[in-house]
Amino acid sequence: MTSKGVIAVTSVINEGIPAPTVVTLQNLVVIGLQWGDEGKGKLVDVLSGSFDIVTRFQGGSNAGHTVKVGDDIYKFRIIPTGAVRGKKAVIGNGVVLDPNVLLEEIKKLESAGVNVDLLISDRAHIITLYHIEIDGLQELSKGERKVGTTKRGIGPTYSDKISRSGVRICDLLETSDANQWSLAKESLIKRIESLHDSTPQSDPEETVSAIRKLIASPNCRIGDSGEFLDAEIEKGKRVIFEGAQGALLDIDHGTYPFVTSSNCVSAAAATGTGVSPFKIGNALGICKAYMTRVGAGPFPTELDDIIGERIRELGKEFGTVTGRPRRCGWLDLVALRYAVRINGVQHLAITKLDVLNGINPLKFCVAYIQDGVETTSLPANAETYSRVEPVYREVSGWDEIPTGQSIDYANLPQSLQEYLSIIEAFSKAKVAILSIGPDRVDTIMVPGTPFEEFKDA
Ligand code: GDP
Ligand code: IMO
Ligand code: MG
Repeated sequence: MTSKGVIAVTSVINEGIPAPTVVTLQNLVVIGLQWGDEGKGKLVDVLSGSFDIVTRFQGGSNAGHTVKVGDDIYKFRIIPTGAVRGKKAVIGNGVVLDPNVLLEEIKKLESAGVNVDLLISDRAHIITLYHIEIDGLQELSKGERKVGTTKRGIGPTYSDKISRSGVRICDLLETSDANQWSLAKESLIKRIESLHDSTPQSDPEETVSAIRKLIASPNCRIGDSGEFLDAEIEKGKRVIFEGAQGALLDIDHGTYPFVTSSNCVSAAAATGTGVSPFKIGNALGICKAYMTRVGAGPFPTELDDIIGERIRELGKEFGTVTGRPRRCGWLDLVALRYAVRINGVQHLAITKLDVLNGINPLKFCVAYIQDGVETTSLPANAETYSRVEPVYREVSGWDEIPTGQSIDYANLPQSLQEYLSIIEAFSKAKVAILSIGPDRVDTIMVPGTPFEEFKDA
């Protein structure tokens, strides 16, 4: 590290954490602060015991959220994870919905004894089989420059939404004029033909019949998510807004073009449900104790060595949706500080701390060297970002973290507490929750934070 680097880093620490202004947690946005898979599903499950309603607001079946309760493991794609606890679940207008995946998910949950009670926004855009085909063809045509998407039709569906040629749930209700669907179909066929020089392989009417099944399902009601949620919040009901993906995959603020096609920062909770941002109030940022990424794109702290391999194996870092091995690396505090700022996060949940057991020393990135100059800003351009060199610092690791029902913050290893203090100092947010295993019970609420109220949720 350069002597200039030391000064910059010290000044970052000395700035301290701003005093949190959170007073109540009636509503909460739970958001990923990295490249997805931070453990949002687990945290929403833990917290939703104290909430009434859980809603998704962006993304679609590119998400894979895992909940573990004892021996039972639930994997969610579209349904908010609070459904495990029988909570009212809402799919907001900002979600892109694959009806076949949703029907399958409802079936699986019901057969596991979970009663699904779902409100789906009539304004949500539909992923058709054509969109999925186009996703695959676009990736193919990009060759070396491919994004490494989940091939679930996410990008093409959001493209149609923005270009005003998409098809929404409300367009397929019995009472609707079928014109929007016919126009959308025509334009999709043309796109497939231009990409592949052949006709589409799939039958679009399959999507329509899946939507009809959903509409007729006793588990689902179609309506205005904003009107419903707003009325419930006014009655004093508590709502969790469950983010998908993460800040570094955000279409505006992520590592473009290696991103997803939606805004996945906290602001999207408002636009993606139709609830005013001023009524939502608070966001909890979820951050792994290290970094992972699936798919292509810059990753300054990526580890191509035995430590990266160890993290992948112990952390079971393989994609929930695609099964692809996740790329693993040291914690990047420059990126975390950026994600905290753009999300307005005051509190953090640090997950997968147990995966770092026995790694000594632990490194973390505190600055980048970009073209010979040290910076704590994220370059906008992906090619520039892929060339930055991380500036590392290190701390001693810990051997083991005590687990079980009676985990006490004060009994945690000293070196772990030091690692958390460093995270706070750089990110400018307070660590409020620690996750030390995949199960609901492997969670510690940090004393003195507003999240202590969820200790016995
Ligand atoms: P999400 O997309 O953010 O909901 O995260 P995923 O469910 O895709 O990936 C997180 C994975 O880590 C899941 O398999 C979780 O069961 C698991 N997990 C969550 N928290 C912890 C933790 O603290 N320790 C360990 N070992 N696993 C965890
Ligand atoms: P959760 O909610 C991790 C990544 C893909 C690819 C890029 C674009 O489980 O955290 P897309 O199919 O969205 O067009 O792919 O984004 N990606 C995710 N990575 N977790 C996710 O969701 C992701 N959703 C998309 O791997 O790099
Ligand atoms: Mg995931």
